[in-house]
Amino acid sequence: MSGDAIQSVLQEDRQFPPPEAFSADAHISSEEQYQEMWQRAKDDPDGFWGELARENLDWFEPFEQVSEGDMPDTKWFTGGKLNVTHNCLDRHLENWRKNKAAIIWEGEPGDTRVLRYQDLHREVCRFANVLKQLGIEAGDRVTLYMPMVPELAIAMLACARIGAVHSIIFGGFSADAVAERNNDAQAKLVVTADAGWRRGKELPLKEAVDKSLEKSPSVEKVVVVRRTGYDVEMVPDRDYWWHELMEGASIECEATPLDSEHPLFILYTSGSTGKPKGVLHTTAGYLLGTTMTSRWVFDLKDDDTYWCTADIGWITGHSYIVYGPLANGATTVMYEGAPNWPDEGRFWQIVQKYGVSIFYTAPTAIRAFIKWGDDWPGQADLSSLRLLGTVGEPINPEAWMWYHRVIGGEKCPIVDTWWQTETGGIMLSPLPGVTATKPGSCTKPLPGVVPDIVTKEGESLGDNQGGLLVMRQPWPSMLRTLYGDHDRFLETYFSEVPGSYFAGDGARRDEHGFYWIMGRVDDVLNVAGHRLSTMEIESALVSHAQVAEAAVVGFPHDLKGEGICCFVTTTVNDNSEELKAELIAHVREQIGAIATPDQIRFAAAVPKTRSGKIMRRLLRDIAAGRENIGDTTTLEDYTVLAKLREEDE
Ligand code: PRX
Repeated sequence: MSGDAIQSVLQEDRQFPPPEAFSADAHISSEEQYQEMWQRAKDDPDGFWGELARENLDWFEPFEQVSEGDMPDTKWFTGGKLNVTHNCLDRHLENWRKNKAAIIWEGEPGDTRVLRYQDLHREVCRFANVLKQLGIEAGDRVTLYMPMVPELAIAMLACARIGAVHSIIFGGFSADAVAERNNDAQAKLVVTADAGWRRGKELPLKEAVDKSLEKSPSVEKVVVVRRTGYDVEMVPDRDYWWHELMEGASIECEATPLDSEHPLFILYTSGSTGKPKGVLHTTAGYLLGTTMTSRWVFDLKDDDTYWCTADIGWITGHSYIVYGPLANGATTVMYEGAPNWPDEGRFWQIVQKYGVSIFYTAPTAIRAFIKWGDDWPGQADLSSLRLLGTVGEPINPEAWMWYHRVIGGEKCPIVDTWWQTETGGIMLSPLPGVTATKPGSCTKPLPGVVPDIVTKEGESLGDNQGGLLVMRQPWPSMLRTLYGDHDRFLETYFSEVPGSYFAGDGARRDEHGFYWIMGRVDDVLNVAGHRLSTMEIESALVSHAQVAEAAVVGFPHDLKGEGICCFVTTTVNDNSEELKAELIAHVREQIGAIATPDQIRFAAAVPKTRSGKIMRRLLRDIAAGRENIGDTTTLEDYTVLAKLREEDE
C-alpha cells in the first residue's frame, strides 16, 4: 500500500430495507434498539456482555469478573466454569427440543441422517468416552481430518465435552500440511475417515494421514470412520475403527466443568509468512460470541431450518454450522459434497427437500451459480427461504443483485457478514430486521464491536477514505493467542496499530457509517473465500529442485475472486508444459488442492527493486493483464518493465 489512503472506486447507491413483516418478528427489530445496544456495549462492555453471558449461557459456576486486562491479553468471564456441549446439547434435553432435529445431514450420494438433540447428545457422550479410553485428557490436542459427515460434529463436540482441544484440518489439505499442523499442535490423536465423497470420487483421507504420520511423531493413535468403503491399511495398536470403538462405549458422560478461558480449539489459517498460524479460541467468550451473533444476524427461530454451506474445516463451519446454531437449539443442515453433483441444481434441491429457511454461502459459490444459469434454481421450490447470507470475501454488487433476485425472490434480506478466523464470530453485518442494505457493503458493526479505519500511523480517517480496518475494543470471541507463539500473535495483530487489533483488511466507511471492505493489505490471497499466503506457495515452489526463485501474486478471477499466479525462475533452461504441470502437482502435494496454481509463468529473473524487494505490484499488473508485456520471449524478461516501474513500487 502506498500513501495513507487507499483509493476506492466502488459507488453503490441502491438500498434495500428489510420487509416490514420480517422486522416485526426479528430478534432485533428497530434501528433504535440496535443503536441502544451498540452504544451500551461500547460504553459499558462489562455490563453488556455480563448480562448476556448470565442470560444466555448455562454456568456450572458463575464468573467473578466479566473482563480482565486490556487488549490484547483480555480474559473473559474469569472464575466461571461451564461446558460448551452442555450449552449446545444437555440444556436442550430438558425441554421439548430433545426431539427436535439438531443436525439434518445429507451425504453426497444422497444418503441422509437426522440426529435429534437426544441422538446427538448420546453419540457425543459415547465418543467422549472413547476419547478417554484412548488416553485423551483435558488440554490434549486432537486433529480432525474428516469429510463433512455427522461424525465430524460428534468428534468436535466430544473433544469439547472433556476439554480436549480440537484442531480441524480441511480435507483439501495435503499429507504434508497435515503433518505440519500435527507437529505444531503436538497432536496425540487423529480422527479421520477412509475417504470422503467429492463429485462422485473418493478423496482418500486415511492414506494422507498415514503419510503425514511418517513426519508427525507426536500422534499415538488414529480413529477411522468408515464412510465410503475405500480400502485402507489399519496399523495394529495404532489405528482403530470408529464403529468398533463406539459399539462398546457408554452413553453416559458428564460434561466436564471447564474454566471460561479453557482452550476450545486451534484452527490453522494462513498469514503473510510461510508458516500457518494456529489461532486459539477459548470456551466462554467464543461460545457467547457465536451464540449471540447466530441469533442477531441469522435471526434464528425454533421453526427455522438453517443451512450454512461451508465446510466445518473452516471457521465458518465451526461457528455457524456447529457451535452457534446448536447453542441456540436450532436445526442445522450439513451437506457432504459438491454443489454441482450430480448436477448444478443440487443445492436448490436440498433447499426444497428440507424447506431451508436461512441459507448462508460464499460469493465464490454465488458466482458459480450465476455461471451455471438461472434454470437450476428455477427448477426448485425456494419459497421456504426467508434470509440469505454471504461470507468470505467482498461480494460484487452484480452477484449480490442476482442472489437477491434469483435465490431470494426479492423478498429475503441479505446479510453480508465480515469476520475472520481470528474474530471467532461475525463482526460487521446487517441486522436482517433493521438494516437497509447496500449491495457490496457489510454495513455496520454488531453490538460490542468498535471498528475504525486508520492510517498506518493509527490516525482515524474520515468518511470515504480508505485505510486499515482495526478494532478499538476487545470482544469475547477474539482469538487469545497463536498456539505456541504469543510473540507472533502480538506482532501480527497488535504491532501495526498499537492498542488496536489489526485485521489485515483495507476498508472505507461511507457517510452513512456503512463499511466497505476492500480486501487484504498484506501478502494473503483470498482464493474462493479461503486465505492462502503468497509466501507459503512460494516456499512450496522453491522446495522443488528445479526452481531457483518464485514470486506469487493474486489476479482477478471470475469465479474464485482471486487466482494464483506464480512467477518462477528455474535452475534449468526449461519452460516446458511438463515442468509447469510438475510444479502445479508439487504445490498440491505440499499444501493441497486448494492452493493449485492457476498460472505458472517462467521468468528469466524475478523483477526486483534496487534494494532487492520483489516488485509485487508490477507482477500483479502483469498477472492481471493490466501491463502490456509485448512479445514474450521463451522465458519472459521483465527487466525493462522493472526499470520503468522502479519509481512507483
Ligand atoms: O479479507 C477478509 C475476508 O476474509 C478474511 C478472513 O478469512 P478467514 O479467516 O478465512 O475467514 C473467512 C470466513 C469468516 C477477511 O480478513 N472476508 C471475510 N468476510 C468478508 C470478507 N471480505 C469482505 N466481505 C466479507 N463479508
